[in-house]
Amino acid sequence: MNSLNDKIRSLIADKGMITFAEFMNMALYEPGQGYYQKQNPFGHQGSFYTSVNASASFGRTLANAFADTATRLSLPAHFCEMGAGSGMLANDILTHLKNTKPDFYAELKYTIIEKSGYLIERQKELLKEHEGKINWTAFEDFGGFQGVFYSNELVDAFPVHRVIRIGEEVKELYVIEHEGGLTFYPEKLSTPKIQEYLDRINLKITDGQIVDLNLDMTGWVQALSSKIDKGIVFTIDYGYPAENIFASYRRDGTVTCYYKHSQNNDFFERVGDQDITAFVDFTSLQSYGHDAGLVPVSLTPQWLFLVQSGILSEIENAETDLQKASVKALIMPEGGFGTNFFVLIQGKNVTVPDDFPYRKGAKETLDILSKMNGF
Ligand SMILES: C[S@@+](CC[C@H](N)C(=O)[O-])C[C@H]1O[C@@H](n2cnc3c(N)ncnc32)[C@H](O)[C@@H]1O
Repeated sequence: MNSLNDKIRSLIADKGMITFAEFMNMALYEPGQGYYQKQNPFGHQGSFYTSVNASASFGRTLANAFADTATRLSLPAHFCEMGAGSGMLANDILTHLKNTKPDFYAELKYTIIEKSGYLIERQKELLKEHEGKINWTAFEDFGGFQGVFYSNELVDAFPVHRVIRIGEEVKELYVIEHEGGLTFYPEKLSTPKIQEYLDRINLKITDGQIVDLNLDMTGWVQALSSKIDKGIVFTIDYGYPAENIFASYRRDGTVTCYYKHSQNNDFFERVGDQDITAFVDFTSLQSYGHDAGLVPVSLTPQWLFLVQSGILSEIENAETDLQKASVKALIMPEGGFGTNFFVLIQGKNVTVPDDFPYRKGAKETLDILSKMNGF
């Protein structure tokens, strides 16, 4: 079998150049060879941690939030997780519900949508205890859904197009072969969808600035809406609203690589052996979704969402200082997961009551908590 590098170079030789999105898609998802297709990329042995690896409190808190949402909004007990990675989040959620809400668990159906054949096998292995409850399906075959749909760090793993302004012109950065190596080369935009994206958020790129645009995200959220009959969508990821993500001080975009827990921007090194990821533009995610029928409910920093979902009781119940510290890592600024991460909630054909906890701002939430705790 050709190495992944050879495959990419031969595609470039055929086409002259490929978009960065095509390169990133192959580097991450080429069957048997891409980063997510051949080894466990998560946790200590991999290249990065997600909130799921930081603490099982994350999954337990989400389990409570999702079950509570299904009950409050009278949705069927059906959860769908897209981009389930090692399967740890599904396992933490299902195990917690089995232990604490057996009636809800008995009713619950759990669907997983996962692109990596390698990770599906790992998920099946890890989730044996919940066999019979879970079904795996391809996104294309998914539809008519009623329930709670969610993802954690899915959208940041979609391939992005790199766009640059040079003088008066907006160009796309393609990947070409030059003097034996891969490098970027600016040329005309590969699709009109790029200009549409820029126009929608009225983005004026400054001269020499690079922005990374996640066109797959826009197609995904529109398709997702058409597959949901009645439900609520939680998208948890790192990123920011557009004005922050595309601010002129971010001259080099946000796409970056992780190799064994160190960040680098050597996109064309260790191809298939390192993660490549970009910040999520929540403004566009919300706006494209809205056009397709997903009504925005709230956009909340992850720390606040977790507090609103009751994570503080996880600290009270922690048995060791280490456990306490790992929960705090999810909500404290220095933990890394609390401040860059947001939870976007969108709904379709549901009535969200005024007392839905995620509609409250930070001050209101903290006031309620301090009254509850008597301080
Ligand atoms: C960064 S990982 C996050 C994994 C897990 N949710 C966690 O938080 O640990 C991204 C996951 O999304 C999956 N993925 C990426 N694009 C996908 C797509 N189009 N359809 C389904 N799964 C996808 C990847 O294979 C991987 O499992």
